[in-house]
Amino acid sequence: MNLKNKVVLVTGASKGIGRATAIAFAKEGCSVVINFKSDLKSAQEVLNECNKYSKGNITIKADVTNENEVKGIFKKIKDKFTHLDVLVNNAGIFDSNDSPTNIKAFENVYENNFLSCVLVTKYALELMNEGKIVNVSSIHGRLGHGSSEAIAYSAFKAALESYTKNLAKELAPKILVNAIAPGRVATPMWGNPDDKEQEELGKVHLIKRMIQPEEIAESIVYLVKNDAVCGEILTVDGGMSLITLG
Ligand SMILES: NC(=O)c1ccc[n+]([C@@H]2O[C@H](COP(=O)([O-])OP(=O)(O)OC[C@H]3O[C@@H](n4cnc5c(N)ncnc54)[C@H](OP(=O)(O)O)[C@@H]3O)[C@@H](O)[C@H]2O)c1
Repeated sequence: MNLKNKVVLVTGASKGIGRATAIAFAKEGCSVVINFKSDLKSAQEVLNECNKYSKGNITIKADVTNENEVKGIFKKIKDKFTHLDVLVNNAGIFDSNDSPTNIKAFENVYENNFLSCVLVTKYALELMNEGKIVNVSSIHGRLGHGSSEAIAYSAFKAALESYTKNLAKELAPKILVNAIAPGRVATPMWGNPDDKEQEELGKVHLIKRMIQPEEIAESIVYLVKNDAVCGEILTVDGGMSLITLG
């Protein structure tokens, strides 16, 4: 896919992986829809950065767990662009109360990390004739990976990977659906770790450092540009899964 002038929605784009992804698509000449939930100041900074590279970029404040707010995103996209070319389902959370017995945490993670992607995709499809969808999973979503402190997180990322593959079967060849499974990425989700903390957190990777959000963004752009990858879960985990298996 030639990305010039394409319309790209990135959910959860005010910081972290979403921020880097929005900027990467702007650098390719896309008009980027920067969705965010609460952090208007950061979203505005992402917009300013995107505007250095491309035209037509906008921010849209919306909670992707809320169906009415999701409908609002697509009304704005329809009014401004009439259609959508690329969807990146990136918005997500880590619930610090995640545990095998905390049902509230399971519900919270389910809504934010899985159902939100289904909801956003449902309305995105109304504006997409041809295009690409990339879901942001995690290496924790791979069966058998993860830990009990991330049990809901891992379960619903695994669900997202299954959803990605079956949706790919439904929508190809017009719309190609893929996912990306990062290892530990240095983002606010980890509390914006400094160099020392990143070194410690990065020890779980063969590359012995944390992954930078721009490295995930670059891989998402690759998945969107390439027209032969379909129903794939692209692992970008610095070799973490090999260590876990070793
Ligand atoms: N960081 C990692 O190590 C890592 C590894 C593997 C996978 N991932 C996945 O990558 C994705 C992004 O993670 P990140 O580390 O970049 O997170 P982050 O730095 O915490 O940023 C999360 C972004 O998502 C937005 N968001 C959260 N809930 C939302 C909702 N209900 N509606 C709309 N926007 C919402 C936030 O918006 P506001 O700030 O405006 O509220 C923010 O822009 C997530 O799906 C995560 O599971 C992350």
